[in-house]
Amino acid sequence: MIILGIETSCDETAVALVKDGTEILVNLVSSQIDIHRPFGGVVPEIASRAHLQTLVPLLQEAMDQIGIKPSAVDGVAYTRGPGLIGSLLVGVSMGKALAYAWGVPPIGVNHLKAHLYAPCLEGNVLKFPLVGLIVSGGHTLLVEADSRESAWSLGGTRDDAAGEAFDKVASLLGLGFPGGPAVEKAARDGDPDRFQLPRPMLKSGDYDFSFSGVKTAVRYLVERIEREGEPIPTADIAAGFQAAAVEVLVAKLQTAAKAFRARTVILGGGVVRNGELRHKVQKVFTSPEQQLLISSPDLCSDNAAMIAGLGCLILAHGGGGDWEADADPNLAWGVGLL
Ligand code: KG4
Ligand code: ZN
Repeated sequence: MIILGIETSCDETAVALVKDGTEILVNLVSSQIDIHRPFGGVVPEIASRAHLQTLVPLLQEAMDQIGIKPSAVDGVAYTRGPGLIGSLLVGVSMGKALAYAWGVPPIGVNHLKAHLYAPCLEGNVLKFPLVGLIVSGGHTLLVEADSRESAWSLGGTRDDAAGEAFDKVASLLGLGFPGGPAVEKAARDGDPDRFQLPRPMLKSGDYDFSFSGVKTAVRYLVERIEREGEPIPTADIAAGFQAAAVEVLVAKLQTAAKAFRARTVILGGGVVRNGELRHKVQKVFTSPEQQLLISSPDLCSDNAAMIAGLGCLILAHGGGGDWEADADPNLAWGVGLL
């Protein structure tokens, strides 16, 4: 079964073709980072226009690269949410139009669930119970699953998403956009213990997160050092912030994995590209009874292979074919992994 995947939820236009849910035939991502950089963040209106310009040529390139004809495609999966409404509408419209023209089912996919599917593209098989953490620019979410059909949100951020906090701290430190990779790079030369930044909600006893406090602490710190006329110790602050964010993420994931006796721990989303986070989870989850699934960095950030892969599974489980699966910027987790 070959599924075309389309991803346009934020600032990456992406197209992929995936066979049988695991074999990536082609996976193209066109990033808009350079377009948004002068604005210091993603500008929604510009993002949707750029998707509109890029999507058709990217689709043509993907089909040409592997020499596939529309008649070989069994379904069209597209991200229906959550994300920026204007951006989502471009992908949803294209996905439905192609499905209609090709006479195959449209498959609306939840972007967050697709992030957790990403490690399955690399041949990993899920064992239940499972605990998953999605950390991206727009979301920070912990989920628990007893089976594919029964998966629930345990908690999420009460304010900024983890990636958003990285982006804002980068901006406070003058490190540019996108912030996550810039903070990680700066932190390499820094001392994470020089400034003790808060670990918000570390001991809150639930599975919620909060990142705005640590971001504000960074702002006050920068302002104080500026008032004192000293140079900003960018590397030390970046390292301190990264350590605080990673500690909270890993601690909550660890608590959930223990509470639900997880046999699989999965991480997904752009922030999982972060080397410190990857290193810390690899150090913590070492039990042979528990598999830790983290995909390769390129499959952590937004891509269409994860959309096509999950779309394939949805179709195989009798889903898809719903022409009403429209763009929903606030699409909730709901129930299940599909
Ligand atoms: O999943 P993603 O590609 O897009 C969304 O669905 O949001 O995640 C993008 C987020 C951005 O906030 C970006 O700064 C962050 O992931 N990110 C990182 C790193 N690379 C990307 N955060 C920390 N360290 C990184 N190396
Ligand atoms: Zn994402």
